[in-house]
Amino acid sequence: MATILITRQLPGDGVAALAGHTLIGPKHDDSPYTPDELLAIAPNVDAIVSLLTDEIGAKLLTVGSAGRLRMVANVAVGYNNIDTETARSLGVLVSNTPGVLDETTADTAFLLILSACRLADEAGADLRSGRWRGWGINQYLGQDVHGATLGIVGYGRIGQAVAQRATGFGMRVMHHSRNDTGVDGYVADLDELLATSDIVSLHTPLTPATTHLIDARRLALMKPHAVLINTARGPVVDEAALAEALHTGVIFGAGLDVYEHEPIVHERLLSAPRTVLLPHIGSGSMATRHKMVTMACESVATMLRGEIPPNLVAN
Ligand code: GLV
Repeated sequence: MATILITRQLPGDGVAALAGHTLIGPKHDDSPYTPDELLAIAPNVDAIVSLLTDEIGAKLLTVGSAGRLRMVANVAVGYNNIDTETARSLGVLVSNTPGVLDETTADTAFLLILSACRLADEAGADLRSGRWRGWGINQYLGQDVHGATLGIVGYGRIGQAVAQRATGFGMRVMHHSRNDTGVDGYVADLDELLATSDIVSLHTPLTPATTHLIDARRLALMKPHAVLINTARGPVVDEAALAEALHTGVIFGAGLDVYEHEPIVHERLLSAPRTVLLPHIGSGSMATRHKMVTMACESVATMLRGEIPPNLVAN
């Protein structure tokens, strides 16, 4: 019988996959484990079911694997919170939850595309606060989504799911990724994609190469009426540069679900015009979160049976 740490309360009944094993955590008040608490627990568990808010660094992996720790199952498709290189070198398996959240995250990207382009947030806020005084021909004039050119940066499963939606909306779709996809609409040069798109949607993982991929120089390449959407990871965008670009009209607007220093949001983004801000809800439908939990727990159960889980990102 193995012992598994579940760091936070999880939606759904996916932990049933671990029936028969000893589950420890989450804390009674569901507060996050501190780094010191995680260090103390890690050597005494066979696996950790972690969330993207848990920092699984080299020290934890080293201390853990000197004890019993053999696997970290992240309930997320992104795994930049885990030092996978160290995990690999220590023989600790790391898994993520690919596939099951693609459509829901693409829905969120589209929600941001539509609401940012059509100024839904500020128009709705005016109505609620009593500032709306009736229909006006010059009010809340946004950008059309139909007929616009969408530039998708990162053409993995989520990027492709966004492309599929965009086609239905009558958009022209182009994409950029590190390697030629061989698919129609591929643009090898990111700068060219930025300069020719009306809406840019980011779908890259966070790596050293994609950190601040969208910086002041690249924002300046975008069209003045362009809208930037980020449902990937906050640090892919230089937030200070984006805030400046929005305040000074370098681009028209933005729709963001992720931030550089979550849960802190750059002060100038909070006050930026034509900007829709969501609190990292990309994969947040009940059905999808249940599937993510089930996938993570089933991966741990697979490892405990002595088999190789299919969704490893470090092994
Ligand atoms: C959410 O952001 C995820 O990576 O699953």
